[in-house]
Amino acid sequence: MVGPDEETVSWREVLLETQKQLVEAGQAGEDAAREARWIVEEASGFSSVSEFDGLVTVRGMSRHDAMLGRRLTGEPLQYVLGRWPFRTLDLMVDRRVLIPRPETELVAGLAILEIDRIASLHGTATKPLLVADLGTGSGAIGLSVAVERVGTRVWCTDASPDALAVARANCVGLGRPAERVMLTEGSWFEALPVDLLGELNVIASNPPYVSADDALPVEVADWEPHAALYASDRGTADVKTLIAGARDWLSPGGALVLEMAPSQTKPMSDLARSVGFVDVTVHQDLANRDRAVVARVQ
Ligand SMILES: C[S@@+](CC[C@H](N)C(=O)[O-])C[C@H]1O[C@@H](n2cnc3c(N)ncnc32)[C@H](O)[C@@H]1O
Repeated sequence: MVGPDEETVSWREVLLETQKQLVEAGQAGEDAAREARWIVEEASGFSSVSEFDGLVTVRGMSRHDAMLGRRLTGEPLQYVLGRWPFRTLDLMVDRRVLIPRPETELVAGLAILEIDRIASLHGTATKPLLVADLGTGSGAIGLSVAVERVGTRVWCTDASPDALAVARANCVGLGRPAERVMLTEGSWFEALPVDLLGELNVIASNPPYVSADDALPVEVADWEPHAALYASDRGTADVKTLIAGARDWLSPGGALVLEMAPSQTKPMSDLARSVGFVDVTVHQDLANRDRAVVARVQ
């Protein structure tokens, strides 16, 4: 491992050595420089290159070595760091939850657009808008909504108590917006209090949608929770459950916002129309692939 002598080794030298080791291990691919920087920033507590001329400390070096060692075994960088940015949030993440993805940032953005549309229809009414993030994982979508739109009350649910523990930790870190967040355990709509029937303005979800036949990168398949990834019925079982159940929980004018696989957007849009949703639209991710469906209630 790099630099045993904290009197003479700078973080800049450690950075170069870290990158070299990542490249040699073939672990980070083209991202080796970026990943080395994340690890060194986390270990050193420094966030600008000019600070990297400082000498390493024993404690910083041991943190660095532990993180690099884990990364070299193939563990995803996000779990190694224990946190990952999502929109305005810095979310705690570990193996109990899916690593929040950039495409889901767009899904949260679509939910916020629907909230703004509905708020504008309500005019100056001060009643909070009611939102559910079903299968919240780290809390990525629901906590973003709570932070970015103060006029909301948000139910974040998950069937996994382990995932909810992570969402709870992230919620506590929000400060005041946490007062508008409810965390409840249960399978999809079963986690919601019945008095929300017909009352929700927006339901958002990034459910499991990977088919058992799909080949996932090893880093995903070996490290991320399978209950967060795979769904039966060629990946569509949970999406179908959400589309079938959502109308009963949404209020007039409300919206369902769902992330799914590109190949699922067309059949799932058709399904949404067939159960009575209107204004059903498909939205693309950053790679221009169809990734999300928004369906509204008349
Ligand atoms: C793809 S992950 C999404 C996590 C988070 N919303 C995100 O976007 O990063 C799917 C989540 O759904 C949860 N889940 C799986 N089956 C569920 C069910 N039957 N009811 C509720 N949540 C479920 C998993 O535990 C997991 O946290």
